[in-house]
Amino acid sequence: MIDLSSKAVNMKRRAHKTRRQLQAEKEKTAKQLVEKANALIDPLATLECFHKYKSKDGVLIEVTCQRVTDLSKQTVSWILDLMERNMKQMYEQSAWGWDLVAKQTELLEPAAWYLVASAEDIPIGFSHFRFDIDYGVEVLYCYEIQLEPSSRRRGLGRFMMQALESMAFQTQMQKVVMTVFKHNPAAISFSHSLGYRLDSTNPYTTEKVHYIILSKHNLGIVNPKADETHSIK
Ligand SMILES: CC(C)(COP(=O)(O)OP(=O)(O)OC[C@H]1O[C@@H](n2cnc3c(N)ncnc32)[C@H](O)[C@@H]1OP(=O)(O)O)[C@@H](O)C(=O)NCCC(=O)NCCS
Repeated sequence: MIDLSSKAVNMKRRAHKTRRQLQAEKEKTAKQLVEKANALIDPLATLECFHKYKSKDGVLIEVTCQRVTDLSKQTVSWILDLMERNMKQMYEQSAWGWDLVAKQTELLEPAAWYLVASAEDIPIGFSHFRFDIDYGVEVLYCYEIQLEPSSRRRGLGRFMMQALESMAFQTQMQKVVMTVFKHNPAAISFSHSLGYRLDSTNPYTTEKVHYIILSKHNLGIVNPKADETHSIK
């Protein structure tokens, strides 16, 4: 007589092992893709349409992509200064508070990549981003997008996010992720207008947190039939 219960248990074990193996394979692929992206000299190099931008008021802006370790000293001090000018107050209004040393350490960690936008060689905006594994998934994590107050609402933020999305598409990251303070309505409107929505890793509504985690999936990966001329929709 067949012992149905032990047969079922064995089948379940086999299925479980397969799931574990599949998960291990996914994690291995994710790690390889992130390593490959991080080994690039310039992830923006082949995306020439993102090297220059003419803003809505006709200013010609140059956009470059560099590792943090390749930034000039002047650019690094401007990044730290703009970060403080733009965000200190927002951090002070959050449970995190403003920890200058911790923020500077995060901005200067060797894994950090930067998009820097300049007009006539004067920097006006930056994005700190990383190719990373987030909850087991390969992502381009946008840590910061920060523009000088005088350079806002001219389409540059959108342009820089599109550059990030295209780099994410090109390096086969699954999505672009960003964390936004709940008390930063401009950033929330900005990210929503660009198609970012609550990420699956966003904390439950019952958790009292001062931020939301947003993302935009790389449809080129999730749905291979998607229009391949667009990076991320
Ligand atoms: C958020 C930020 C990056 C947006 O960049 P930007 O270049 O000003 O934004 P864009 O001009 O590309 O705007 C794109 C769209 O986002 C929305 N948007 C941008 N700024 C907005 C604001 N202040 N209020 C409401 N909607 C806004 C609009 O829909 C806009 O489209 P429109 O101008 O055609 O109406 C910029 O305002 C900034 O650096 N803010 C300070 C730092 C910050 O809060 N960073 C975000 C941290 S996650």
